[in-house]
Amino acid sequence: MIPTIEWKDGLIRMLDQTKLPTEIVYVDCRDVETVAQGIRDLWIRGAPAIGIAAAMGVALGAREIRADSFDAFYEEVERIAFKLGATRPTAVNLFWALDRMKAYVRAHREEGIAKIKEGLVRESQTILDEDIAVNRAMGAWGAAFLRDGDTVLTHCNAGSLATGGYGTALGVIRAAVEAGKRVRVYADETRPVLQGARLTAWELMQDKIPVTLITDNMAGWMMKQGKIDAVIVGTDRTVANGDVANKIGTYSVAVLARHHGIPFYVAAPTSTIDLTIASGDLIPIEQRNGREITHVFGRTQIAPEGVATENPAFDVTPARLIIGIVTEKGVFRPRDIRKLGDPNVDLDAIRLRP
Ligand code: MRU
Repeated sequence: MIPTIEWKDGLIRMLDQTKLPTEIVYVDCRDVETVAQGIRDLWIRGAPAIGIAAAMGVALGAREIRADSFDAFYEEVERIAFKLGATRPTAVNLFWALDRMKAYVRAHREEGIAKIKEGLVRESQTILDEDIAVNRAMGAWGAAFLRDGDTVLTHCNAGSLATGGYGTALGVIRAAVEAGKRVRVYADETRPVLQGARLTAWELMQDKIPVTLITDNMAGWMMKQGKIDAVIVGTDRTVANGDVANKIGTYSVAVLARHHGIPFYVAAPTSTIDLTIASGDLIPIEQRNGREITHVFGRTQIAPEGVATENPAFDVTPARLIIGIVTEKGVFRPRDIRKLGDPNVDLDAIRLRP
């Protein structure tokens, strides 16, 4: 797969995903403002990928700090983290990665500012490398739940493009294919930003995994005809009661899956799990500009001038509609997600078996 983001010669090179699938364009980010713009304007998107971008953004910004005391340096790091954190509110990875970078600075206080600046670059690279390893582990656990010959529906893009590489939901599909299972995919186009059409379809075709593109409103009919065996999606934030925030439209797919008796899985690296929030009702949902709905890519107008719009970028799927949450530690019932942080819990006893 082509890399989504990389640290290269003192700058951050980001694939501009708004240009896919027709153009492959990389943007070089030389300052924090450009990284923040890249996250806000969806050049880079997908929960794990924006966490990595934010971590690299801290490393990039820290290099420019001129401070002669640790406290002055740390204050500037916090300012950078605040700026990056103000880009998109729903994916918890963003805040998880920023907290981890700030914790790195505090933990290495005694080493001096110059060493910390170098260490931050390494730490952001470690976050990227760990993300790929986590996705592979998640793939191995999740693939066991897909059978040879299954057709799987997915929504949005939870693939290599949305992560450091390999993907979460698409990682599970990739792992099943690598294990020799014949798996086919239906990709919802995912209005209004079309991550399914532009990104998931493209990514799977690159890997020669059979994919069929449908519009979002076709999913129910495909299920009714028995064409779908399982659904797997990613997540931006999974909270203590097992509720899951993901791309708008995920909730509708989960309701449809339940109605048709089709298992609905969520691939959730632990970096997307937020046990500080008790229920999905409390997850902040990003509201985006209505122009994403009224215009196709800000260009062709498809709705009357001045029409009122609502454009929530995410919705919340309640735990009761989810059969299993795939993590790098195994597959669990949504209600058991809260136990993952407890060192006294025997995970083997609560893991779901295929
Ligand atoms: O608005 P986006 O494209 O950032 O939304 C992405 C999603 O909803 C993904 O499903 C989610 O971040 C999981 S990515 C592994």
